[in-house]
Amino acid sequence: MRILLDTADLSAISRLAEFYPLEGVTTNPTILSRETGDLRRLLYEIRETIGDLELHVQVTTDDYMDMIREAEAILGLLGTSNTFIKIPVTANGLRAIEELAQRKVLVTATAIVAPTQAMLASEAGATYVAPYVGRCTRNGGDGIKLVQDIDKLFALGESQTAILAASFKTVDEVLAVALSGAEAATIGPDLLEQLIEHPVTESSIEGFAADWENSYGKPLYDLL
Ligand code: G3P
Repeated sequence: MRILLDTADLSAISRLAEFYPLEGVTTNPTILSRETGDLRRLLYEIRETIGDLELHVQVTTDDYMDMIREAEAILGLLGTSNTFIKIPVTANGLRAIEELAQRKVLVTATAIVAPTQAMLASEAGATYVAPYVGRCTRNGGDGIKLVQDIDKLFALGESQTAILAASFKTVDEVLAVALSGAEAATIGPDLLEQLIEHPVTESSIEGFAADWENSYGKPLYDLL
């Protein structure tokens, strides 16, 4: 499963992109509202930092014409290569998804909490659908089943749309969507780091280091 970073925090992006096998960065209006300074510069610097990896930027309106204008402005700033326009699945959103898909723009249909929303977004030509796993579960649904149902619908309909699962709170949710057929998941910086943390791994590494030091006392490359 491809992993993206769900943040606009430039220092977190630079730091984590150096170590983790990331496929890109996703943002939304709330994520961008947490940052300060010039928005244009921030988005441009994120693009510079991640190079040609995927960068997902969401429209901020439900007006069809304004969504198209915002998409054009985002693409004008960031380029069309691996820049995804995120559009929530409303009636106007579906119209914008269809229009942009016809223009060969990469679109991520977002804020999905029902399989039928994903089905329609796929029909409209979305490249990705983004089911909100945590928000679905926290609002009385089942975020994992949501991903499973979308995966099943896409397989039955031979859809070309991929699942970019989003809105995670726990490592177990990430694992469950990976086992449920999601092609990608976008995860916040803190949770991303938790994916590799385990006390048994840490104590194993400490044991290896102590045993090596006791027996050899030098780095391996000095002994070979
Ligand atoms: O990518 C969508 C995501 O940012 C929503 O996550 O944690 O605000 O539900 P959350």
